[in-house]
Amino acid sequence: MQIQPCGPLHGEITVPGDKSISHRAVMLGALANGTTHITGFLMGEDCLSTIDCFRKMGVSIDVSDKEVVVEGVGLHGLTAPECELYTGNSGTTTRLLSGILAGQSFTSTMNGDATIQRRPMGRVMKPLREMGASIEGKDDNFCPLTMHPSELHGIEYRLPVASAQLKSAILLAGLYAEGQTTVIEPAPSRDHTERMFRALGVEIETNGNAITLNPPEDLHAVDIAVPSDISSAAYFLVAGAIVPGSELTIKNVGVNPTRTGIIDVLRDMGADITESNFREEAEPVCDLTVRYSRLHGTEIGGAIIPRLIDELPVIAVAAAFAEGETVIRDAQELKVKESNRIASMVAELSKAGVDVEETDDGMIVRGGAKPHGASFETYKDHRIAMSLAVLALAARSACRIDEPEVVAISYPDFFHTLERLGG
Ligand code: S3P
Repeated sequence: MQIQPCGPLHGEITVPGDKSISHRAVMLGALANGTTHITGFLMGEDCLSTIDCFRKMGVSIDVSDKEVVVEGVGLHGLTAPECELYTGNSGTTTRLLSGILAGQSFTSTMNGDATIQRRPMGRVMKPLREMGASIEGKDDNFCPLTMHPSELHGIEYRLPVASAQLKSAILLAGLYAEGQTTVIEPAPSRDHTERMFRALGVEIETNGNAITLNPPEDLHAVDIAVPSDISSAAYFLVAGAIVPGSELTIKNVGVNPTRTGIIDVLRDMGADITESNFREEAEPVCDLTVRYSRLHGTEIGGAIIPRLIDELPVIAVAAAFAEGETVIRDAQELKVKESNRIASMVAELSKAGVDVEETDDGMIVRGGAKPHGASFETYKDHRIAMSLAVLALAARSACRIDEPEVVAISYPDFFHTLERLGG
């Protein structure tokens, strides 16, 4: 695909539903008593993988343009799948599901695509085993993962990394455990699981960075309205900030404080972002308007990292257009995402002439000189593809992107939306 530099971006858009919340809505809807109607569900490949896995365990899930309807089978109602559960490219499906499968009275095996088979699963295997799970993985760290029936008990577990996937896997296993389960995070990560648990009647206590779950008798289905994904909005926030003359509004964006690091960092870099129409639903939601402005470099590290972990590739693009140096540190987790996102972004930004240096836990971008056109690789990583597309809009000359179709993981319509805005 070729992308030409463009004039100002203008308009009002709605980006697709939140990926993290969509996964959880299907999972908890499946385990609840009663019917869950989900609106705003993300019809991306990752979330469809979650639906597919639960259908294979006997859950009836109806997908239409309007909504996704999950007929809950109750905490103990899943049935043994007849074949391997295939999680595609989805780390969230794989990790969260491992917690649920650990508590079932049947054996199951889960596997995903080539990328998933390279991503570390030892981080979930370890605490699940401490809870009594019988779980096997390739080389004790990778998919395929096989879970055998076992009696689980609650534990107190200090997470070695601030990972919402890991936290959620343990809490989901905690649904099936004898006694309380407590996880202690090094820094707060997205809390969608905890919020949804509460909405479904599960007793969850938070004390500083410690989260304690009391195993419930059952979960009560509630309808779920999924807000738009701030991780998808991020591409347009950066595009609006770097393409001269732009002004655009993204409607109905989920602004859960555990996810809004991108807004804080862009503002810190001098971006003009305003919030309007704020409302507190199951998750806080608002409209975001961004206007072009001159950006400058900043430092990003510490507790903000989990609040913007998926947005760091597009933040690196903003940094390339910002005057001065941007330092990203404490972001080692980027190495174990859909691709090694530090190496991917450093390699591709360099191709466009950006002065960028890889470090052990992040990168240093010396921005300000307009990147030139280049032929980009996506590493089969949706977020790398969309970040580079944003760069291309404001580059000096045309760029090429290989395998643009990888955006379908989280944002199938991404390029159409970009065109509609003038890209
Ligand atoms: C997610 C958590 C994050 C994020 C991923 C979705 C989730 O991963 O990168 O895209 O839905 O819990 P980690 O929690 O492992 O950092």
